[in-house]
Amino acid sequence: MSNRSTPESFDPMEFRKALGSFATGVTIITTRAADGTPLGLTANSFNSVSLDPPLVLWSLANNAGSFDAFRSAEHWAVHVLGSDQEDLSGRFARRGEDKFSGLDTEEGLGGVPLLRGCAARFECRTASQYQGGDHLIFIGEVLRFARDEAAPLVFHGGKYAHATRRDPPGQKPRSAHLAGSFGEDFLGYLLGRSHFRFFAQIRPFLEKEGLDDMEFYVLSTLTLRPLLTEGQIAEGMAGVLDERRLRAVDGLVERGFARRTPEGFELTDSGREAAIRLISAAKAVESQVLERLGTADAAILKTTLNRLLGVVDERGADVLWAKDTQVG
Ligand SMILES: Cc1cc2nc3c(=O)[nH]c(=O)nc-3n(C[C@H](O)[C@H](O)[C@H](O)COP(=O)(O)O)c2cc1C
Repeated sequence: MSNRSTPESFDPMEFRKALGSFATGVTIITTRAADGTPLGLTANSFNSVSLDPPLVLWSLANNAGSFDAFRSAEHWAVHVLGSDQEDLSGRFARRGEDKFSGLDTEEGLGGVPLLRGCAARFECRTASQYQGGDHLIFIGEVLRFARDEAAPLVFHGGKYAHATRRDPPGQKPRSAHLAGSFGEDFLGYLLGRSHFRFFAQIRPFLEKEGLDDMEFYVLSTLTLRPLLTEGQIAEGMAGVLDERRLRAVDGLVERGFARRTPEGFELTDSGREAAIRLISAAKAVESQVLERLGTADAAILKTTLNRLLGVVDERGADVLWAKDTQVG
């Protein structure tokens, strides 16, 4: 342990950080105030207590706006958030606004507003309350629960995170023939083979249009802006297609998908139509692959690949994506 603190020397920020190293799920806890107002807040202090009887707990800051209402409420509901509910978490973590505005809710036990689309939901009756320093601890008896297969939203180190399952230790790699070889977990192999296998599913659509991979890459790049100068194409493709881009651009021009103007290159109508067809076919392939991978792993993969690009492709393709950049 690099940082030790005794209670007398507690640095509150360090204490918070140390607590934040405990990864948790994220919940929204809702109730209905005596005057009928729906209330709720984001809470990660939720935990299970007992299976029989079924008990759960969470704690509420003494200075929370909803404190009085929760303290006197008989019923409340815990919603365990899924990985796609970060916005909802943010909304319920803000004080003072109408957190339920525009939300599709249903009414639960004791008139408690229930949110839809969560990973799990526990409808509870307050069993006991304990003062715990600057928080009030609620223990609730679970009267009814529901759950979905959604991947959970995670909170760790003050930030939202994804959770994915690990393969059991000692499990054989998917490609058993690679076991023990350097390819088994060599990033270049994993990326390369994934790319080829993924692209193999898109290629039949390209062939229908008479295009190869590089021409598709340039064609989809040309959809990013009404016109790209030769300099912009060269810069955007640097380290990716380099010189081969010239052949790809010529191929698109020959096929009538792009035209050369004094200012640069632009798509023709038929090029734009082909691009729309191909991009939607590629998106459909992506959806199928990601569905098999699962939502959580899909989100993790995209986040991680974006970070990897930040490492291996520092300049990135910003020149093509950035709206205001003028290059060339
Ligand atoms: C991830 C996360 C976890 C939180 N956990 C708790 C918690 O367990 N207890 C709590 O009182 N506040 C917690 N908060 C802060 C409340 O959501 C926040 O103070 C909210 O504005 C309180 O709402 P209210 O003032 O309308 O009652 C958390 C916030 C976030 C973003």
